[in-house]
Amino acid sequence: MLASVLLSACLPRPDSAPGRLVSASNSAANPRPFASVGPTVAPADNPGATRPSTAAPAPSPGIPRAYGEGANTPPPDEGDTGPALRELATRTGKLIGAAVNHAVLPHKRAYREILAREFNYVTPENAMKWGPTQPRRDQFTFADGDAIVAFARAHDMKVKGHALVWHEQLPTWVKTLDAGALRAEMERHIRTVVGHYKGQLLAWDVVNEALTDSGGMRPTVFLEKLGPGYIADAFRWAHDTDPGALLFYNDYNTEGRGPKSDAVFALVERLKKEGVPISGVGLQMHITAQGTAASDVAWNMSRLAELNLLVNISEMDVRVRDVPGTRDDKLAIQRRTTHDIVAACVAQSHCHAVTFWGFSDAYTWVDGFFGADDPLLFSDDMHRKPMYFGVQAALTGR
Ligand code: XIL
Repeated sequence: MLASVLLSACLPRPDSAPGRLVSASNSAANPRPFASVGPTVAPADNPGATRPSTAAPAPSPGIPRAYGEGANTPPPDEGDTGPALRELATRTGKLIGAAVNHAVLPHKRAYREILAREFNYVTPENAMKWGPTQPRRDQFTFADGDAIVAFARAHDMKVKGHALVWHEQLPTWVKTLDAGALRAEMERHIRTVVGHYKGQLLAWDVVNEALTDSGGMRPTVFLEKLGPGYIADAFRWAHDTDPGALLFYNDYNTEGRGPKSDAVFALVERLKKEGVPISGVGLQMHITAQGTAASDVAWNMSRLAELNLLVNISEMDVRVRDVPGTRDDKLAIQRRTTHDIVAACVAQSHCHAVTFWGFSDAYTWVDGFFGADDPLLFSDDMHRKPMYFGVQAALTGR
C-alpha cells in the first residue's frame, strides 16, 4: 500500500482437484507429457538489479486495512470488466496464480472470492516453508498449508508448494546441526513435507535462492556444511517422495540477462546433464516497473526452454514508488511492464504459469521489505487496477 502517493488508485481448470494436470510417472530419464499447460518436458527470475537479501520481516498477520473490515464484505461490484483471468489463462493453456496469505484467507470474504474467481493456481506465501512446517525438531505442523490446499481443491485450483530448501525462514535449530545431522534432517524434512502433500500438489519449489547476485553459490548453512551437492540431493529426495510433482529451482534477479541469470542457466544445465529430476526454473519477478525488459525475459525463457525445462514466473510484483510522474503515470507504466512480461510467457510454450505474489495491495510483502508501494493487480480496496487489465490483454494476445 502506497497510500500517500497512490491513494485509492483504480479503475473502474481445469481439473476438479488441486492435484495435477498430469499423472504419468515423472522420471529424469523418461520425460512425461505436460498435457494441459505446455509442451513435453523432462519431469523431473530484478528487484531493480539489486536487493539486500531475502531476509524479510516476520510473516505479516495480514491485518485488514482499507477495504471491508467485516469478514463478510463481498468484493466491490465493478460492472462488466471482462472475463476473469483464470478463464483467459485456461483458454491459452496457462496457469495464472497468486500467493496466498493463510492468515487473511479465513477472515476476508472479498479476498477469498477474488482469489477463487481470478486464479487457477496458488502458492502458499509462507505456510509450507521450513519454519512454519517444522518450527521445532520433530514437530511438523501442516494446518495452514492444509487449509490452502483445501481451498484450492474446492475451487478447482492447482497448488505449488513453496519452498523446501531455503536459507530464510529456517528455524534456528537447523542452523546449529553438524554436517551429518543437517543432511539427515534435510532429507527428513523434504520427505515428510513432500510426503504429506503427495499427490495433491502440481509442483514444488525445491531449492530457493541458492545463488548470489554475482552468480556464485550463496554461502548458506546448506552450502557450507553439505557442499554444492545439496541441491541435487534435495531434488532427488523430493522426486523420490512424490514422483508426480514438477520440481523447480526458484530465484530472483534472474529474470533477464546478467551474471545471476547466467549462473541459474549453468546450474540447471548441469543438473539436467547429471540426470537430476528437475522440471524447470521459477523466475520470481519481484521487479520495479522500469527495471526489466520483457525482451530479455523472453530471451532467457527461450534458452531455458532449449534445455527442455519448464519456466514459470513465480512471484511477480511490480513496484512503482520510484517511478516518476503522477499516480496515473505510475499505474500506466506498471500496466505496460506487467503486460509485456505476461505476454512473454504467453508466447513461450515452455512457460506454463504466471504467479503474482499476492493480488491486493493491502496484503503485500513489498511494503515491509522495500517500502510502501502498490505492486499488485488489485488496490487496497479490492478494485482492479490498470495492471489487471494489462494481464487480461496479454492473456488474450492483445
Ligand atoms: C516472503 C513473504 O511474502 C513474507 O510474508 C515473508 O515474511 C518473507 O517471505 N522470495 C521468496 C518468498 O521466495 O518466499 C518470499 O516471501 C519473498 C522473496
